Order: sequence, then C-alpha cells, then structure tokens
Amino acid sequence: MRKVVGLNQGWYYCDSFCEEFLQHEFDGHPWQEVTLPHANKEIPYNYFDERDYQFVSTYRRKLAIDPGDQNKRLFLDFEGVMAAADVYLNQVLVGAHRGGYTPFSCDISHAVDFGGDNQLVVVADSTERPDIPPFGNVMDYLCYGGIYRDVSLRVVDHVFIENVFAKPKNVLAQAKGLEVDVYINNPLNRAAAGQLCASLSRDERIIAQACREFKLDQLGIQVETLNLSNLTDVELWDLDTPNLYKLVVELKTNLPTEDSFAVRIGFREAVVQPDGFYLNGRRVKIRGLNRHQAWPYVGYAMPKRAQQDDADILKYELGVNTVRTSHYPQSRHFLDRCDEIGLLVIEEIPGWQHIGDDQWKQLACEHVREMIQRDWNHPSVFLWGVRINESRDDHDFYTETNRIARELDPTRQTCGVRVHAHSEFLEDVYTMNDFTHFGGDLVLRDQRVVTGLDHYVPYIVTEYNGHMYPTKRFDHEERLMEHGLRHMRVLSAAGLDPHIAGTVGWCAFDYNTHYQFGSGDRICYHGVMDMFRIPKFAADAYRSQVDPEKGLVLSPVTIWARGERSIGGVFPLVIFTNCECVEMKVDGQSVGKFFPDRLQFPGVKYPPVVIRRAPRNFGEWGSQWYDGEFIGYVDGKPAITKKFVKNPVASRLEIKADHQLLCADGADATRVVFSMVDQVGNLIPYISDFISIEVEGPGEVIGPKQVALIGGCIATWIKAKPTPGIIRVRAVSSRLASETIAIKTE
Ligand code: GAL
Repeated sequence: MRKVVGLNQGWYYCDSFCEEFLQHEFDGHPWQEVTLPHANKEIPYNYFDERDYQFVSTYRRKLAIDPGDQNKRLFLDFEGVMAAADVYLNQVLVGAHRGGYTPFSCDISHAVDFGGDNQLVVVADSTERPDIPPFGNVMDYLCYGGIYRDVSLRVVDHVFIENVFAKPKNVLAQAKGLEVDVYINNPLNRAAAGQLCASLSRDERIIAQACREFKLDQLGIQVETLNLSNLTDVELWDLDTPNLYKLVVELKTNLPTEDSFAVRIGFREAVVQPDGFYLNGRRVKIRGLNRHQAWPYVGYAMPKRAQQDDADILKYELGVNTVRTSHYPQSRHFLDRCDEIGLLVIEEIPGWQHIGDDQWKQLACEHVREMIQRDWNHPSVFLWGVRINESRDDHDFYTETNRIARELDPTRQTCGVRVHAHSEFLEDVYTMNDFTHFGGDLVLRDQRVVTGLDHYVPYIVTEYNGHMYPTKRFDHEERLMEHGLRHMRVLSAAGLDPHIAGTVGWCAFDYNTHYQFGSGDRICYHGVMDMFRIPKFAADAYRSQVDPEKGLVLSPVTIWARGERSIGGVFPLVIFTNCECVEMKVDGQSVGKFFPDRLQFPGVKYPPVVIRRAPRNFGEWGSQWYDGEFIGYVDGKPAITKKFVKNPVASRLEIKADHQLLCADGADATRVVFSMVDQVGNLIPYISDFISIEVEGPGEVIGPKQVALIGGCIATWIKAKPTPGIIRVRAVSSRLASETIAIKTE
C-alpha cells in the first residue's frame, strides 16, 4: 500500500550554491534550519529591489528511508519550486523541473541507500530565466523564490496508480454516471493480470462501487476505465451547496502489487454559452475577482491555512462566485478550499504578455499538461486558460495548447485571456481583458466589437479597472468612492448584457510588482483589498451584491469629516448596501430615507444608495458638524446601523486574530490585524503611529516586529513554531496598547 510522508520540516538552507554542497559529507548544519513553505529571501513591504530574491539557493535535508521499502518505488513529490529545480539524492541527479507553478515528481528508487544516510539536495534557481515561462520580458508581478510549496515522499509498489481522472456524466439526470480513468504506471514493463475497484462515498457511506479485471501489458502509463452508473443518490456541487464525494480506486495485481488512490470530486455541469454561463442548467452571472497568490514579506511562501483563508475572503468577505488564478496555477490548498465552499475557478498557465522561442513554448505546453493533470478533479475549476495572459496571437502555439487541453480533459472548456480585439478565436470561450471603462459613460463593449465576429460566442470579461484607476486603501475619500463606483458600473453593465457571461475584476488584493509597474514602491494598488487583505470601500461594492440573508452590508463611503472632500462635506454620499433603503440621521435627527439608485445601476441586484445633497443646514463650511448615523432597513424594519462621531479621537488599539488555534508545525500561520479606532469603533485612517508587536511563547512574527499603521491599521502573520503551547500577542503604540490575545498551538 502507498505511504505518503510529509517532508516540510528539517531542511537546511543556504542562499547560494556551489558543487561542494552536493558532496555527501558536506555538513549543512551551520546553514539555517527552515520549514517549508519557504521564501528564499524575506523582502520588505515596499521599496525593495526585486533582484534581491533572484538567485540560486540550496536546500539540504536528510531523508529517513525505511529499509523495509527496498522492493518499492520511492518518489519525491514537489508541489512548487521557483523557478527551476535540480534534485540530487546522494549526489545522483534524480530529477529536474522547469517552471515554478506546477508540481513534479522525482523517482529516487535507484538512488536510495537503504541501509545508510540519505542526503537530499535541491538546487533552486529563482532567477528570471528567459527560457522558462513566464519570464523573458517585463511583467507585472513577482515570482519570488525558493521551495515555496509542500514536499512529500511517496512509497508505492512497482505497479502503481499515477493519477485518476473522474468524469461525472449525465449530471443533470436523475441517474448520474461517473467515468473513472485510472492511469496505471508500470515503469518496469511487467506483464500481469489485475483488478481495479472504484468506490464512491460520502461521509463514510458508500454510494456506489465498480470493479473490473485488466491485463497489464504496457511500459509506463496504461489507462483503464471504470464506470459507475445509475447514481441516483448523488447531490450536485453548486455555489451554495458544494457537495463533495470521495472516490477511492484500488488496484491489485498478481505480481503481487497493490495500490489505493483517493480523490475528492463533485458532480456539476458548468458551461459558458453565447447567452451566458450555466451552472447545473441554471444561468448564473459570473461575478469574480483575480487573485495573485502573494503576501507581504514572504511572497508566495504561505502555508495551507493562508491559502484557504484567501478563498474564504473571496467567497464570504467579497461575496464573489468566481476567482481567476491570475496568472498561473495556484496552491492545491487554495483550490481544495474553493471546492469546499463553492467558489468557481478559472485557472491558467503561467505567463504575461510575452511568448518565447520554440523551447519556451514547449515548456508552456508542458505546463498545460501539468496544470490539467493536477487539477482535473476539482469541481470548482471550470475553465482552462491555455493562452499566455494578454499575449499576441500565435496560431500554431495556441492550436497546440488547445489540442492538449481538449485531449486531456474533454469535460471542460478552454479559454485564453487576450487584451487585443479581433484576436484569433481558437478556444471555446472568448475571454477578454476589457479596460474600456475610464470613468465615463463607456463601460463595457459589445462582445462583437471585441471579437470582430458577426455572431455571439461564449464570452467573459476577465479583467477591468486595475491600472485604469490604482487606488490605495488610504487614498482620499473621493478617489475611494470612484474606485468602488467603477467596479459597480462594470457589474451593472455586465448585468444588462446577456452575451457577457460575467466579469472578473482586477483584482482582489494589492500585490508586489516590478519597478516598471505599480506606484514606484513595488506595489500595484489595484486590489479591492490591500496586501494584508484589509478592505477598501470597493470591497463593499462586491460584498453588497450578496443576498441580505447571507449578511447585511451597510457601507457609507465616507470617513465622516467636514473637510476631507473638495469644498467640504460628505456628499454625494454613496452607500454600498443590500438593504432595501437607508435612513440617515444627523445629530440624532432623521433627515430622510434613501433608496437604491436603480436608474444609474440597473444591472445589479443591489444598487448603491446615493444621497446627492446635504440636508438643509448641514455641511456648509463654517457651520456646526454633527454625529451621523445610518440605518439599513430590511422588510420595512431597521436591521443594521452604522454610526460616525463628529470628533473622532484615537480610543483603542484593536487586535484581532483570524484563528485562535494553529498547528505546531513550524509553518502554520494566522493573520493578526491591528487597528486604531475611535469612540464608536471606526478605523481612524490618518493615524500612522508606530506599533511594536510583542510575542511570547512558541510563535514568531512574519516580517518586521515594528511597523507603522497604514491608513489606521496594519496586519501581520504569526507563525507557529514546532512546539505546542500558547502564543501571546499584543501591540504597543506611543499612545495606546492593545489587549493581549492568545493563540494556541497543538
Ligand atoms: C493587465 C494584466 C494584469 C495587470 C493588469 C493591471 O493588463 O493582465 O496582470 O497588470 O493589467 O490593470
């Protein structure tokens, strides 16, 4: 039976490489001991030189091998090493991989010393090598460096299951089916007879089983198919009901060998048609955001929990139904979570505008294969992006990427994100970055203007806004308002056009970038949240589109100050809300009820309320300034309130951890947010005090321990050390100290 052992702990790291490091006797102990995921270099929040992490580094660790595994096959599975990896075991090169976003495995069976010490060395080349996608030209994101995803050891018999692709059939019928392709690996070309069994279960309850005999007669991969039919007891995977099932495939041969392979699947039909996107036969407007998998200080190197939290933020805090993994395959943990919570995914190969030479293209084709074979069982993934984001047309190259995708996975449509109109349509879905909206009346183009075709095709807008209107969380209130409104206008325009299946905005989170992009400080302030996942007002434009029973939203776009805006006051006041109307009070007196602006935003379910003018006797420069209060109504009754004080003062330094319990594995981490708030708990945006983050117990701060508040707040991640206990965290500023919070690690 297969054994999988995690290898994230116990690595020794050196920020250089020389041949001597490969020597068996080489003593790696003076090196720094690290746990994966690991960033080859921690970088400052901004204004760093992006070349700082672009170097070759070395990772070493001892590999404990069970002498009982002598007659097995042993593999090292790497989920992501940036950008090129050479893997040596006991000085033997056991594998190499080019490309930092897709997994690879190294067969180490021939290189293992079963009685002795096994030294594993990984050389990670994190330079921007022009022979590896996405590199070769400028690009608007950073790829960071190191072994930034999980590594494990897999021990299997000589004949084993390499992969399983489960394809739900007749999903919308009462009696569904499941076609299970089993990729059997027979590396020694042994002839044998065998049996395969598949069983589908949910919560330990078996729903269906099927078995069949087969003959093994091929070297390498042999695909055998099992069919489970008449599945009447299966519930669909959908946005609100992400039902998941476990499929276990067991293999036995007369050699004798055996193996077992488990995948998690969902039954759903997801198809983009010329008149929209259909999920399980129901038309759903795609409302999504793009995500880079990057965080402050450590770039990509964040553990499972942070990956999962990002999916939760998109689904629950931003209320979107789709994410595009711009511009590369993202963490398995992120996709697993998308499956669990019902968040649709558009996944694409690594790249940004540039297409390299033939070898480069071959690698990109390999990335198509690796992406699909890693992720084909995720019900959340519904489109394969098989073009380099925003690249020029390349008939042969993209004919080939589409061919590979369709051959490997006939169940999903392909797409390819372009920015040039009238580009050659080789995919199943035309996906376009439409940056038309620049604040005026023009918001989105008719798809026929973009495609140049005389008929409608399946069509999604995969980016908008972004560089057209970079906005910092701590920008001026009027800019923050316009930022939110631009997102809202696009949602509304898409809502009115049945031939736009939906839109995916640029983007969810601000991100570090190269000096050629962003605000000069190596940050692109394009997110509806900042790099710490703290929302800007535009986040509320998305959040407000969720039905009230899933959470009420009442977000007046204001800091409520007399002199923040040009000419003064807070009008016109936009309120992102899903309430049926909003009552405004000034100094405790009601000044009226205001209703959603359906005239300006006819295409969204929950248009913002816009209060255009100040009530009489309020707001003039030189008059009194008062407390404000907003009350959102649902079913005619007050349901949610938001208060502002006329004279905010720094009253509390709040501290909030996203999680109170971590795994004591040296990698697990939770975000902790520190906010300076006023008398009624509102963030005070123009305070930039320094805070010291004090940590006791088995935890450490990722990034600096002394930081300045940015726009009134800041976050950090607290990482668990590999010893269980209680981590205590508090923050101290020159005027206030937070309470102390406890995070347990086990
Ligand atoms: C697009 C690109 C994105 C990002 C965005 C900024 O052209 O695909 O990666 O750079 O512009 O608006």
